Amino acid sequence: MSELFKKLEGVQVVVFDAYGTLFDTASPIQKHLGVLGDKAVALSTLWRAKQLEYSWIRSLVGAHADFWQVSRDALDYAFEALQINEAGLAEELMTGLLALEPFADSAAAVQALRARGKRLAILSNGSPSMLDTMLRRVGWDKTFEYVLSVEEVGIYKPSRRVYRLVMQKFGLQDASSVCFISGNGWDAHSAAQFGFQAVRIKRSSVPDDRLPGKLVASITNLSQLSELV
Ligand code: LAC
Repeated sequence: MSELFKKLEGVQVVVFDAYGTLFDTASPIQKHLGVLGDKAVALSTLWRAKQLEYSWIRSLVGAHADFWQVSRDALDYAFEALQINEAGLAEELMTGLLALEPFADSAAAVQALRARGKRLAILSNGSPSMLDTMLRRVGWDKTFEYVLSVEEVGIYKPSRRVYRLVMQKFGLQDASSVCFISGNGWDAHSAAQFGFQAVRIKRSSVPDDRLPGKLVASITNLSQLSELV
C-alpha cells in the first residue's frame, strides 16, 4: 500500500456525505441517454447545481422544504431552461433519485471500515425516506450506526446546526474526533470549518475550492481512506 497520507489522530467516528460522495447523482440520467441525447450532461449539471442553490437559498431565507421538494423544483427549472418536454420523464428521474447507484469504490471502502470496527454514519441533505429507500435498495440499511438527515434540524448544509447533529447523536465533545468525507468541496470545507477532520473525495480534476476550513486530505478514491483512518 502506498503511504501517501498520514494517519489521522483521534478519530472516533467516520461520517460520509451521501449525494456525490457514496452515491452518483448523475446515475438516473444515464438511464435516459437515448431520450435526452446531447442535453444529458447539461441536465445532469444544471439539476444538481439548482438543487444545491435552492437548498442554500431556502436555508438563508428561512423557508425550508425537504430535499424531495427542492430536487423537484430544481428539475422543473432545468427542464424549462433546457426545453425538455418529454412526457413522464421528470417523474422517472425523480424516482431514479431514490435509486441512485453507489460509486464503484463506495461499497468496498465502507465494508473495509466496518470490518475494522469503525463507527460509521451518513450525514445528508436527503430526507429520511429518500435516504432509507436508497440505502435499502443496495442493502446498506444496517450498515451505518446513524443515517442523519438535515430534516432533524430543518436547515441544509452547510449550517453548523447540521454538522452539530453528529456531535449530539454520538455524544461527542470534540469535533476533531469526527472524520467527515464529502465529494462536495463546499461541504468538506464547511465541515472542516466546523471542526471535523474533513476529507474531500475528488473523482474528477476540478480546481480546489477557495473556501474557509482546512481539509486534512484530498483523495481520488475512497479506498485511500484506509490509509487515513
Ligand atoms: C448531501 C449532499 C450535500 O448528501 O450531497 O448532503
